[in-house]
Amino acid sequence: MKPINVGLLGLGTVGTGVVRIVEGHQEDLSSQVGSTIHIRKVLVKDPLKQRNLKVDEELLTENPWDVINDPEIDVIVEVMGGIDPTKQYILEALSQGKHVVTANKDLMALHGPEILEKARVHKCDVYYEASVAGGIPIIRTLMEGFSSDRIKKIMGIVNGTTNFILTKMSQEGAAYADVLKEAQALGYAESDPTSDVEGLDAARKMAILGTLGFHTNVGLEDVEVRGISQVKKEDIAYAKRLGYEMKLLGIAERQDDQISVVVQPTMVSTSHPLASVNGVYNAVYVYGEAVGETMFYGPGAGEMPTATSVVADLVAVIRNIRLGVTGQTAHHVYKEKKLKSDDQIAYKNFILLDVHDKAGVLAQITQVFAEFDVSLESVVQQPNPHNPDAEIIIITHEANQASMKRVLEHFKSLDVIKSIKSAYRVEG
Ligand code: NAP
Ligand code: HSE
Repeated sequence: MKPINVGLLGLGTVGTGVVRIVEGHQEDLSSQVGSTIHIRKVLVKDPLKQRNLKVDEELLTENPWDVINDPEIDVIVEVMGGIDPTKQYILEALSQGKHVVTANKDLMALHGPEILEKARVHKCDVYYEASVAGGIPIIRTLMEGFSSDRIKKIMGIVNGTTNFILTKMSQEGAAYADVLKEAQALGYAESDPTSDVEGLDAARKMAILGTLGFHTNVGLEDVEVRGISQVKKEDIAYAKRLGYEMKLLGIAERQDDQISVVVQPTMVSTSHPLASVNGVYNAVYVYGEAVGETMFYGPGAGEMPTATSVVADLVAVIRNIRLGVTGQTAHHVYKEKKLKSDDQIAYKNFILLDVHDKAGVLAQITQVFAEFDVSLESVVQQPNPHNPDAEIIIITHEANQASMKRVLEHFKSLDVIKSIKSAYRVEG
């Protein structure tokens, strides 16, 4: 059968892995899809750049239209990243009837509905497995494996860079800035790592997972986000002492028809399977009404794991071409979006306070919790090793977010409290 021609947009970390897999696994791939897969053109920014992969120079171009307008190209694999000009390239490729595989969560989280609609109109496929959790086939799992169930909760470590940083800080006492540099050198971080450490990358992925899991369009603006840049070594040490691991968790929950999606550093009980997901590994815990608890684990970033998902999508597109069923992959969003308010979101909290060490302090603090109906699981006071004051560590029972915000606001005006040193959600 006629070979399938692929146009590759980008030859960085992921693009290099895609070329390695397509070339290295060609025999297996062509046996599965019934024809050879041929990379016909590759868009790069700088064709003269030194690359750690041998590619025929003739393939490289810096002109996107050499790829997008090439009538021989059947599938565009987009691994260049970003929104602008990438979105324009993808929409144009779809208009020309070319199928698209992308690893771009920024694009799918922000413009997924528009891209999928364009694909539907032009009877094209858009696959984006690598956009969430690198090498873990979680999108396929939600769309196919759980199509029979009603998902209640998706809880994930979906950013490899931050998990790598938190693990090294926790296990080796490494400094935040040094580990971030290491993650960048290993190709895990985004071109602007702020989106990793400030939780935006995870938020985009959670918007995609929430959309697929709850059948409603979850936008980036619906995700409450807090990153790890303010997490201190001391917080990680406290977490360990109390039987928790600090993780950047994405949590999407549904109760009846109302949903909430957050990304925040969270203290996860060491008895929960997510607590032992370390390094660049990601994991997504999915709770379905019928299936109960499930968890999916694997490398969340890096050249070959991510490329595995990209090329698996390519295989899926080629199979659809062979079967004549392209354009039917768009996910059905059929539920109206209803977001929970702060008083409908409840969880346990860890609070660390720096207080004056004198009579009646504890009583005043517990009085504020009582006033806002927040019940406490444990309270520990200890001398602060660095000054004459004391530290109070509080774990609450499940409390609603609105009440907790009022408690913390009230603490700011309480004379006995010198500072609220840390506040984290507690899970598991
Ligand atoms: P990368 O290493 O920075 O590579 C980007 C590639 O795109 C480079 O080859 C670059 O060309 C090319 N490029 C960028 N902007 C361009 C433009 N305007 N015109 C032409 N070429 C352009 O990025 P990456 O880490 O492979 O990530 C690619 C995509 O995969 C992103 O959407 C990212 O979020 C996603 N992703 C990455 C990972 C990961 O572990 N890295 C995992 C999952 C998903 P030059 O080579 O000439 O500079
Ligand atoms: N920067 C991302 C991460 C790449 O660290 O998870 C994978 O999407």
